[in-house]
Amino acid sequence: MRRGSILALLGIGLVAGGIATAVAVLPTWLPPDASRERGRIDFVFWFTIVICIAIFSLVVAVLIYSILKFRAAPDDDSDGPPIHGHTGLEIVWTLIPTVLVIAIGVVSAIVLSRDDAVGKNVLHVNVTAQQFAWSFQYPEAKNLTTGTLRLPVGRSVLLSFKALDVIHSFWVPEFGQKQDTVPGLHTTLHITPTKTGTFDVICTELCGLGHATMRTQAIVMTPAAFNTWLKGQTKATTSPNAAVSGAAVFKNQPCGSCHTLAAAGATGKVGPDLDKLPQWATQAHQPLEQFIRTSITDPNAYTQPGFPKNVMPPFASLPKAQLDALVQYLIQSSKKG
Ligand code: CUA
Repeated sequence: MRRGSILALLGIGLVAGGIATAVAVLPTWLPPDASRERGRIDFVFWFTIVICIAIFSLVVAVLIYSILKFRAAPDDDSDGPPIHGHTGLEIVWTLIPTVLVIAIGVVSAIVLSRDDAVGKNVLHVNVTAQQFAWSFQYPEAKNLTTGTLRLPVGRSVLLSFKALDVIHSFWVPEFGQKQDTVPGLHTTLHITPTKTGTFDVICTELCGLGHATMRTQAIVMTPAAFNTWLKGQTKATTSPNAAVSGAAVFKNQPCGSCHTLAAAGATGKVGPDLDKLPQWATQAHQPLEQFIRTSITDPNAYTQPGFPKNVMPPFASLPKAQLDALVQYLIQSSKKG
C-alpha cells in the first residue's frame, strides 16, 4: 500500500472520528448522576461508545476511500477481478469484534455484580407499587410508611418491591437503574445515593389510566437530617397522643398526584376535585365525614359519576390517627374551597 493511501485513510478516519466524538460529547445525553451505581453504568456506556467510535471511523475511512479510489468509469462494463476471499483478513475481522464484544460483556458483568453488592449498614425500604401510587415503608422505624422516598446520602439502600395489582417499574433517572415490580415476585434494587437533592420517581411501565401520574419524589438528605426526620416521624406516628397533622398525611400519601386540593397546592386531575367534597357528598346522599372516610378506606364502594371505576387504591392500612387527621383536614380544606 502506498504512503499516500495510508495518509488518505488516516485523514478520513480522523475526520469521521472527530464528528462522531463531537456528537457523543457535546449534547448532554444523560441526566445528571446521583448514585454510585449510576457512575459505574455510565462507565460501561462510555467504554462502549469509545469502541463504537473507533469502529465507525475505520469503516467510514475504508468506505469513502474505496468509493473515491475504485470508482468504475461510466462505460466500464467489465467484471471485477476474481477474488475468492482472503483467509487472513477474515480471521482478523472475526477476531477483533469477538474480543471487543467479550470485553464489553466482562466489563458489564463486573459492573452488574458490583452494583448489586450491598454494603455494610444497609437501609432496608419496602416499596409498594399500586395503581397509581408508590408507598415506602421503613422497617428500621417501626414500619413508618410515606409517599415520598427519603434516603440518606452515602448509605447503601436496598429497596424491596411488592406490586399489588399489575406490573409497574421503579425509575429514578439520576440513580440510573430501572426495576420492574411484578405481582407475586419479590424484586429488589440496590442504590447508594451520592448527592443530596430532590429527584423524580417515575413509573416506567404502562400500568393503566393513571400511569402518567404515578410519580413521586426521592429526597436524598444528609445522614444527620435523615436520622432527625426518621426519629420525628416515628414519634408522630407511633405515640397515640401526638397530634397528627392532616396536611402532613395528605402530603406524605400520594393523594395529590390524582386529586386537586387548593389548600395543599395539589392539582391532580385523575380523580374528583377535593375542593368540591361537600358537593360530591350531597350528590352521593351521604354525610360529609362518612363519605370522605369511606372514599379513602373503600374507594370502590361508590364511584363519583363521570370517573372510571376501580382506579383509586384503598388506603385501608392507614393508621387510625392518620386517617382521622386526614378526614378532618379534608373537611376543613374543602369547606374553605
Ligand atoms: Cu405504575 Cu405505570
